Amino acid sequence: MEIPIKKNEEYIVEIIDNGYEGEGIAKIDGFTIFINGAIKGEKCKILILKVTTSHAFAKIVEIIEKSPYRVESDCGTYKRCGGCSLRHIEYDETLNMKQRMVENLVRKTFSENNIKVLPTLGMGNPYNYRNKAQFPVGLDKENKPVMGVFAQRTHEIIPMRNCLIQNYYSEQIANFVFGFIKQKEISVYNEQTGKGLVRHIVIKVGVRTHEIMCILVINGKGFKEEKQLAEAVIKEFPEVKTVVKNINMKNTNVILGQENEVIYGDGFIYDVLGEYTFKISPMSFYQVNPVQAEALYYTALEKAELSKDDILFDLYCGIGTIGIFASKYVKKVYGIEIVEQAIEDAKENARINKIDNIEFFAGDVEKVFDKLMKEKQAFPDVVIVDPPRRGLDGNTIQTLLALEPKKVVYISCNPATLVRDMKLLEEKFEVKEIQPVDMFPFTSHVENVSILKLK
Ligand SMILES: C[S@@+](CC[C@H](N)C(=O)[O-])C[C@H]1O[C@@H](n2cnc3c(N)ncnc32)[C@H](O)[C@@H]1O
Repeated sequence: MEIPIKKNEEYIVEIIDNGYEGEGIAKIDGFTIFINGAIKGEKCKILILKVTTSHAFAKIVEIIEKSPYRVESDCGTYKRCGGCSLRHIEYDETLNMKQRMVENLVRKTFSENNIKVLPTLGMGNPYNYRNKAQFPVGLDKENKPVMGVFAQRTHEIIPMRNCLIQNYYSEQIANFVFGFIKQKEISVYNEQTGKGLVRHIVIKVGVRTHEIMCILVINGKGFKEEKQLAEAVIKEFPEVKTVVKNINMKNTNVILGQENEVIYGDGFIYDVLGEYTFKISPMSFYQVNPVQAEALYYTALEKAELSKDDILFDLYCGIGTIGIFASKYVKKVYGIEIVEQAIEDAKENARINKIDNIEFFAGDVEKVFDKLMKEKQAFPDVVIVDPPRRGLDGNTIQTLLALEPKKVVYISCNPATLVRDMKLLEEKFEVKEIQPVDMFPFTSHVENVSILKLK
């Protein structure tokens, strides 16, 4: 196919859709162009920035016809930050977009399509919903220490002001810690050279308990002012229950290293979800939007129609939240999770909440699921899976196909892998509907729940 457009040329296009990252999509003679910040229904003058053999990227030069859903972004860092890519769109419309995005994936994957994608479950107040903030620390272009957010698609750190999705406390505490670091001239990490100490400031907030954890990710074993820093933080913010240093000396994009040392407090915090209390450690996964996590769990459990005779497996169970929510509706729950510390927390969570029909096991689902069933001679009636973005591995798909549980409750933070796995499980399981849940308002991400019923 001859490419009908040229780099650095301007064109006028109609935006026919929005893509998986919220970008506008236009076509010129069938050739696809992705345009950051453009909304379906708009007419724009665009400048072509990059052309590949199959598609091109462009930026808006002028919006000739505006979408009725376009709003002025209310965030000062929005234009450069890679966080919220939908902040220029009315919130209710972002929910419609997320529903359409899942519908598109379903339509592309299933030729005979009887799967209904329900309207996205949105938030009443989609602001300051995140309970975990991870602020990178480094050097700016003038070699001065900077803390903030990564600029879109780069590793340049830009300072942030009043982030509208983070909990109010997170930014205040991180600013305070960063102020201390600058004042004491503690070195900050330089990604290019691998030198310098402070890499990230991570804040976890128990939104219901008001308990806060402050984690300092450092490229070293410690620094002499660490006790003084912890004392200053807890004096200023008594809600901070623990200060932990996380040692990460690897040249990697992964934020946390494997080693944690408590500087102050117990090294963990508690939060409350639904009627349960959960212990949260530095390394364990905990849903970042607790309001929507409750909505997600209740929706999943309602749709799962569990029964008192059911044996339930909660795969990728984190600190045991879903399994604990489900425990009162079933006979027995088994949870599997790869992070040992999360399993320690899950066991403690079962104890705190006085739940005695649940057991947790540390290990890779791919290897442990089958083994555990055989060892325990326990075979699930219902399996809940909540994998990371990459979805299920081939082994687990085969195990589910061979096992034939009545239902698989698939919770997913990546609709592309959800739909891929639904297709792989189609031989034995049918899906009637998918429920998108807006776990990450104003970002392009969407969580989904779907119930796969044995045919
Ligand atoms: C999306 S989180 C879900 C956690 C939990 N269900 C919840 O709602 O909080 C995915 C979890 O899978 C775990 N995980 C990732 N790969 C795994 C694997 N191969 N086997 C077991 N667990 C894994 C992660 O550590 C993380 O806790």
